[in-house]
Amino acid sequence: MNFISLNLVTLLYLVASVCFIQALKGLSSPSTARAGNAFGMTGMAIATVTTVALILKLKAEMATGTMGYGLVILGLVVGGGIGAFAAKKVEMTKMPELVAAMHSLIGLAAVCIAVAVVSEPWVFQITERGVALPFGNRLELFIGTFVGAVTFSGSVIAFGKLSGKYKFRLFQGAPVSFPGQHMFNLAIAIAIVVLGLVFCFSEGAEPAWTPFVIMAILSFILGVLIIIPIGGADMPVVVSMLNSYSGWAAAGIGFSLNNSMLIIAGSLVGSSGAILSYIMCKAMNRSFFNVILGGFGGEAAVTGGAAQEQRPVKSGSADDAAFIMSNAESVIIVPGYGLAVARAQHALKELVEKLTHQGVSVKYAIHPVAGRMPGHMNVLLAEAEVPYDQVFEMEDINGEFGQTDVVLVLGANDVVNPAAKDPKSPIAGMPILEAYKAKSIIVNKRSMASGYAGLDNDLFYQPNTMMVFGDAKKVLESMVKAVG
Ligand code: TAP
Repeated sequence: MNFISLNLVTLLYLVASVCFIQALKGLSSPSTARAGNAFGMTGMAIATVTTVALILKLKAEMATGTMGYGLVILGLVVGGGIGAFAAKKVEMTKMPELVAAMHSLIGLAAVCIAVAVVSEPWVFQITERGVALPFGNRLELFIGTFVGAVTFSGSVIAFGKLSGKYKFRLFQGAPVSFPGQHMFNLAIAIAIVVLGLVFCFSEGAEPAWTPFVIMAILSFILGVLIIIPIGGADMPVVVSMLNSYSGWAAAGIGFSLNNSMLIIAGSLVGSSGAILSYIMCKAMNRSFFNVILGGFGGEAAVTGGAAQEQRPVKSGSADDAAFIMSNAESVIIVPGYGLAVARAQHALKELVEKLTHQGVSVKYAIHPVAGRMPGHMNVLLAEAEVPYDQVFEMEDINGEFGQTDVVLVLGANDVVNPAAKDPKSPIAGMPILEAYKAKSIIVNKRSMASGYAGLDNDLFYQPNTMMVFGDAKKVLESMVKAVG
């Protein structure tokens, strides 16, 4: 039974790789994101079907009978079914959680494949039965197992922290730290490298299981240890970093299996995840190593409580805000995390349509880290079918705030905090949307509570700022009625 030729496999893998590259290109802009997703799905379908055909071909060649065919099909049906169900059910604000869960599976898959290759390399056509694995393969397997194990356990902890549903201490959002933590982690990392090298340099056809297994267990432990000191709110950056790790783990295993698809897809995931983590850290003005070494999210929340001040603020009703906006020539809307929590994007779109109808020029300003994950606000507005030409990135719109009549800030806080301009502030240097420069500012949130960074916001106390307190959805619905 010849399912597919190796040349055709190579060609199909090449087509799938091109689809993945097109997917990444498409996902870089909201207007091409749908096409990017379609490319990604097509590439993954081609890669999966080709790989299954390849497995069936190898099995047929090895004449191992029909045993295992059912397992391949079962894996496809169960995995695909769970994936489709989870993706359909997940809410936008829970997306980082789902991504963390998926990464944990990639990490675990990398470890399982490595164990299978170490125990029976001849099944994967790497060596003849009874012949030792070459040094290069052992090194790849060591690195793949290490990265895969760290990705698995780290992602499980990140998932627990993001979901906030579990009582288990390590799954709490608050950082978990103990004295000498960094030195302890370093000692474990050194032990992993030493054991890995012992495994790589061991001789004989029988693999050196003892150092391999201890190295794998220590890697699982290290994954837990490096994520627990990081505060729950920093998890999106961590998830993006683990995304990168999972890609490198897959690429490492691709080398062991001599599978070009895994190497290419893994490298794309690894490098795009690393670039995304860098962009997120830069937009939050955080050093990448600060996030990795942990604790910031928690510390920030603690300092925030103390920084809260009792100063007078001007507050008004949704009707007042609607009146001001109806009489303006230009309005810029700044959406933030609170808008996503309130799921108020449809009410917002209705308001903007009414204002535009009355001749007001309305634009949306998007900060790169508004919300809790990259592109959160773009996806939120896309859900409400807001036209892309009304949506502007920070660098394209920041110059316009000074000439704008009204800025409406909806459930956003840190991304418009002028404290970022103060060199002594904890968020000093974080790029912000310069809403404070507008002629009038309307801010909607439920209270004077601080945002993610835990800092008070001077924008709320400016003489030209009016606070409209309340849930974003209710406030926007009242504004829609008032605009008429
Ligand atoms: P935040 O600074 O977190 O502020 C959100 C505000 O929304 C809060 O002050 C809250 O005030 C208000 N809010 C909550 N629920 C609301 C509701 N139902 N209706 C109205 N308002 C509501 O959000 P932001 O300005 O979007 O900034 C994002 C922050 O997250 C940044 O510090 C960023 O660095 C961080 N972060 C972002 C990412 C990515 S990639 N996006 C990843 C990690 C961290 P009340 O409680 O008073 O209502």
